[in-house]
Amino acid sequence: MDLRVNLGRLKLKNPVTTASGTFGYGKEFEDIVALDKLGAVITKTITRLRRPGNPPPRLTETAAGILNAIGLQNEGLDDFIKNKLPQLKAVKTKLIVSVSATDEDDFVYCVQRLEEAGVEAVELNLSCPNIKYSTGVNAGKKMFAQDAQAASALVAGIRKHVKLVLITKLSPNVTDITQIARAVEDAGTDAVSLINTFSAMAIDIKTMRPKLANITGGLSGPAIKPVAVRMVYEVARAVKVPVLGMGGIMNAEDALEFILAGATAVSVGTANFVNPRACPDIINGLVSYCKNKKISSIKDIIGGVKV
Ligand SMILES: Cc1cc2nc3c(=O)[nH]c(=O)nc-3n(C[C@H](O)[C@H](O)[C@H](O)COP(=O)(O)O)c2cc1C
Repeated sequence: MDLRVNLGRLKLKNPVTTASGTFGYGKEFEDIVALDKLGAVITKTITRLRRPGNPPPRLTETAAGILNAIGLQNEGLDDFIKNKLPQLKAVKTKLIVSVSATDEDDFVYCVQRLEEAGVEAVELNLSCPNIKYSTGVNAGKKMFAQDAQAASALVAGIRKHVKLVLITKLSPNVTDITQIARAVEDAGTDAVSLINTFSAMAIDIKTMRPKLANITGGLSGPAIKPVAVRMVYEVARAVKVPVLGMGGIMNAEDALEFILAGATAVSVGTANFVNPRACPDIINGLVSYCKNKKISSIKDIIGGVKV
């Protein structure tokens, strides 16, 4: 069974990757999941400097998903390159490092340092709903991925300086996600990934306070899947670069919906908290589906939804 797919120049052994922020830096899961069986490990987002993240509580369950406002907690770029990257590079699968910044200079700095350190692909997180941008080209706005011009200028600015594979992560918190996808494609991204979480809120009626200290957070999990599938379907038809699809994928059937909608590969996020073996289970499920349907290569069904 041939599960290989190409995310632009990045060749994956199968289409299943770990969604940023839900799988740590891979190591946290290595006793449970054979990391070398995954299509790729996508790391928790890193930033140039250490970030403590938002104050707790920053996670709460909802009827069909979770709300989080972690706020990109991480130990910073230097720590990542020194203490985490060597172990990740030793794993025999592709590595995609998620990176974020509040302005172009910091983005370029981080991505260049990662390229120099031998990283082959980065996911540009332009779409975290839980941080505020106060400086740079996007000052005063919430995120680059909500403004086609800002997103395009940023990706073009990064593209000029590096050759590695750029995957740009888009936000669903927009009126027309295809517009942003086209803008970053024109700016030179190698692939787009979607969707990040939906800006959302939950209130504790006993205390009459928001359940998250940050007041709002990002909604993920099964609740968002149908919207994510629709967005992947629309974006896959609007751009030529490959789409990395995610949002509520809990099992192989969910992953297949994304692939049929046009995703070349998928990321599994919230499911890792429910079933830490979700990724290998999904890979096995894809093999069974292909066998039953007599599909020899998963590539044959990308975008294959019959409409
Ligand atoms: C606890 C948590 C932390 C997350 N942290 C990040 C992050 O650091 N960077 C990022 O790009 N996305 C982050 N995300 C978003 C996921 O990568 C993914 O885009 C989103 O959750 C939708 O997929 P899912 O429904 O399978 O979780 C986070 C999601 C959760 C639930």
